[in-house]
Parts: sequence; structure tokens; C-alpha cells
Amino acid sequence: MADYETHEYDVLVIGAGGAGLRAAVEASAQGATTGLVCKSLLGKAHTVMAEGGMAAAMGNVWPEDNWQVHFRDTMRGGKMLNNWRMAQIHAQESPDRVAELEEWGALFDRTDDGRISQRDFGGHRYARLAHIGDRTGLEMIRTLQQHAVHRGLDVYQECTVNRLVKDGDRVSGAVAYWRESGKPLLFRAKAIVLATGGLGKIWSITSNSWEGTGDGHALAMYAGAEMIDMECVQFHPTGMVWPPSVRGILVTEGVRGDGGTLRNSTGKRFMFEYIPPMFASETADTEAEADQWYNDKTVRRTPDLLPRDEVARAINAEVKAGRGSPHGGVFLDIATRRDSEYIQRRLPSMYHQFKQLAGVDITAEPMEVGPTAHYAMGGVRVDPETQASSVPGLFAAGEVAGGMHGSNRLGGNSLSDLVVFGRRAGLGAAEYAAGLDELPATDGGEVDEALARIRAPFEGEGKENPYTLHRALQDSMQEKVGIIRTESEMLEALDDIAELKERAANVTVEGNVQYNPGWHLALDLEHLLTSAEAITKGALERKESRGGHTREDFPGPSDEFGKVNVVGTLNEEGTVDVRQEPLPEMPAELQRLFEED
Ligand code: FUM
Repeated sequence: MADYETHEYDVLVIGAGGAGLRAAVEASAQGATTGLVCKSLLGKAHTVMAEGGMAAAMGNVWPEDNWQVHFRDTMRGGKMLNNWRMAQIHAQESPDRVAELEEWGALFDRTDDGRISQRDFGGHRYARLAHIGDRTGLEMIRTLQQHAVHRGLDVYQECTVNRLVKDGDRVSGAVAYWRESGKPLLFRAKAIVLATGGLGKIWSITSNSWEGTGDGHALAMYAGAEMIDMECVQFHPTGMVWPPSVRGILVTEGVRGDGGTLRNSTGKRFMFEYIPPMFASETADTEAEADQWYNDKTVRRTPDLLPRDEVARAINAEVKAGRGSPHGGVFLDIATRRDSEYIQRRLPSMYHQFKQLAGVDITAEPMEVGPTAHYAMGGVRVDPETQASSVPGLFAAGEVAGGMHGSNRLGGNSLSDLVVFGRRAGLGAAEYAAGLDELPATDGGEVDEALARIRAPFEGEGKENPYTLHRALQDSMQEKVGIIRTESEMLEALDDIAELKERAANVTVEGNVQYNPGWHLALDLEHLLTSAEAITKGALERKESRGGHTREDFPGPSDEFGKVNVVGTLNEEGTVDVRQEPLPEMPAELQRLFEED
């Protein structure tokens, strides 16, 4: 096991979704030697789960749209917890990133007069999502992947990073293993970009696939990085609820954007009962007005398209009140408003997904949907301009980075986030690397420690099984740190996590290192547990309800907590400490955009 291959780069990018690919393309374009590591196959990333589109104020459908309106929508959607500068950069730069993707070959749907079409999504004042049917993330990945491959980047597929290595304070490398052969590798690099995506696999009902185990969040914490607002987790309102084998799979918000309506078991359009004061002036309060909005958009928007946190809580409340669908969700009906040709053209993946997985024809009958853990708003604290973390040489972009989305992300803002901040991270990392004459050292003993840790599940004498422990964590987090939270349950969850951490030290796996999924999960468990602890401690610290963080014992937002980030770090005992720090102050000219609120 002491034998390992070594690779050296100016910039190493970990994660090959939208952010990782865009960061790698940029670093390489800046002249940095660049390596790109992905846990699964290239092209298979959670980015493809952002189906409905990429938000950018291009003004193609509504000329009134501009970056200021997008910025304002994003901040309001995030309940003002967002890093204002990230939200501003994002709103300003997204249109250029759409144009760039088009230049690189992405085939966006068009308006009748040939411009890039833009679709409605929740919380966006204007139709602003550039889209490719309901396969936007997939087209983005395809485009970026081709571009990256043509740049001649070194790509390491099915390769998992387990630890970052440091030279003093600064990051200097990463220890990884090939999933297929089990053989270890050491990457030495001047700068590292984390673009590892999310952590949905902490919960039992999630839109995330097996890769979403919080690796980057945990790697950053082990390396000493500061995290912010980890408690803010998005439960997308519409995941599939039936059959059980597909529970949690995403049903794009594009269904509601294109005409779908939510109803409970009595047939009532219940969203009218859940319009919060903040959105009352712009939300239709009668069915007639909401229907007219779908037809000509001249009136206030349907409440079916309130921001995701509002819709997820409403569905949760309907189900709890006994007004749910037979399998524990609510009904989402597009067949009543749109004909079959329209639905199959605009939402081809949804049509096939329901037909093949649930035997439901969405052109003729309603879907059953319910909330599903979808997205981490919290993550590595970064500098908005460069995406540098608090650890020198370590950068983060995309879902693993915190700040941009505050306490709740608007749909469609993730695809634009990936390319806006992926590019900036690639630039920041390349610039940082150019300032170093030589590779920082990796000989401080951390490599041997990491190699021993990777091997440990084969050598233990314990009897714990990684699948059992993962299921126990998911059940605990689903029940106790889900959409609605309360102190007593979260304290129980913390006890569960502490116990599971002890048990995880006794995990033993059988077989050998060649493609051994039990071993891989045993290694991911530490990341899942560390991330879950950061989320739970953040959630206990934030004594208010805001966006994706809802507390039964503190039902409203508080002025005090609305002014702070909850910052988390790992201490020497390997547990998470949290503290509060003031949010960066927004300049007066941007504050003025909120005066009408
Ligand atoms: O609903 C969706 O299509 C998901 C988009 C997103 O998460 O941005």
C-alpha cells in the first residue's frame, strides 16, 4: 500500500460537474497545468439534476429584466442571508456565461424570433431561465466536458479523493484511490479547487445520487477551512414519492413553470393558503388570476411558483394535516392545462421518467410529488472575487461553496452559479499557483496517515457494516433534522451522530480493493457524519426560521440571526465548533433596491 502513483499540477480540480469543469477549463486557459478528478464517470454529475434551466437576466422574453432585478430576487429568495457580493457578481455575469456556453456548442431552446428562450421558475420576477427542454444540466455538462477534453486536460475518472494534504498552513496535495483497482494516488498541486457538489445522501429521501456524500464539505473541514450556514439545506418541493425505489427523484420545477398546479387530496389548490407577506404583493390570490398568469403573464404570478422553501413547507403541512396523496405527497397536475404535444416537447424527461418508473402518463393524469433533499446552501466560506477559502491554496466553487444562495436557493440559480464561480475559481487558483515557484511539500507524514486510513476498513476487527450505519444516519437526519426542526430532536440527532461516529471506527469490509462498493461507502461515511454534524450544530445555533432552515420552536425569522452567518470549523478532537459572525454589509446603492419591500 506504500506504493502509489504521483501526479503533479499547478491546479488540481476535484469534482467534474459544472463548477469543476468550468474551473478546470479556466485554469488551463490561464496556462496552468491542470488535473481534473471525478468520483464517477465524466459527465455523470448532480448538475444534470438542474433540469429546468439556468437563470440569467438576458431580457430575451421580458426586456424589463436586468441584473438588478435578478440580484434582488436572489437575495429575497435567500431571505437576505446571501453574501451580497456573490449575488451581485452572479447576477451580473450569468448572461455572459450563457452566451459562452452557446458559443461552445450548447443548443438552447429558442423564442419564435430566434433568441434564447427563457422559462418561468419560482421566485424569479421574470421568465429568465435559459433552457434545453428539461435537460439543461445535461446539455451544460456535455458542452463543458467537450470543451475541457479539447483543451487536453488530464482527467481522472472513477477516482476518489479521501484527504487533502498541507505544507504548513497551505494546501499542497490530495490523497486518492482508483475505484476500480483500489490503488492509491498522490496528487501534488500548487492550488486545489473543490467542486465536489452536495451532501443529499445524508437524508433518506433525496434527489442526489450515490456521489452526494459531502466529500468536499468534509475535506475542507479536515483541512481547517471555515464553513458557513451549513444548517441551510434545500428540500426541493417536488420529488417523486412512488414507487419506493424511485422516491426522491427530482420532478423539475419546470413542470410548474410551464403550467403545472399543486392540489391536495380534496382537489384544493392549497398554495393560496401559504402566501407569505414578503411575496403577497406579487402573488395571485385567486385561482382566476393565477390561471390568467399562465396564459398571458400580465398579472401577479401563481403561488405554485413561490420560492422552494415556501412550497416545500406547504406540501409538508398538507401531508401532515391528512390531506396528502395516497403515497404521502400531493398532486401535481399539468395535463389539465396543457396538451400532450406541449408537455412532451417542453418536458420530455418528465414524461419518460413517470411513464417508465411509475407507470403514470403525465399528459393524462396527475403526478404524486413531495419534498426531497436537493441542495446545500451552506458550504466553504469563500472570497467572492476569487473563491479562495480560508486555507491558502484551497478554492471552492459550486454547491460545496457557501454564501451565494443565503438560506434558500432559487431554482435555476445553481447552473449559473456553477459557471460564474467555476470560472472565477479557475482564475483565482491559476493566479495563486503562478505566484509559487515550486510545488509545496507533501512529506509531512499526512500522506502515510491518509493511506493508512484508506486501508483501515480491511484491517479492523470490528463487526460494523457501512450500509447499516449509513441507513441509520439517513433515518435519524430525515426524522430529526429534516424540513421542520426542533431543539430536542436535533439534540437526539447529535447523540445519534456521535454514536455512529464511534461505530464507524469499527467498520470492517470484506473482499479486496478491486471495485468494492462497501469499502467506498465505509470511507464516505466519515464525510457524511462530519457534514451531518456541521449541519445539526448549525441548525441548533440558528434559533430562528429562515429559508431552508425551519424551526418549530422558533417559527419566525429573527432580526438578530438575520444579521449573522453561522461559521463552523473542525476542532482538534474532530468535532464541529460553531460561532456567529456578522454578515458583510451591503453598500447603500444595493440596499436601495429593497426599499419597496
Ligand atoms: O427543478 C429543477 O429543474 C431544478 C433546478 C435547480 O435545482 O436549479
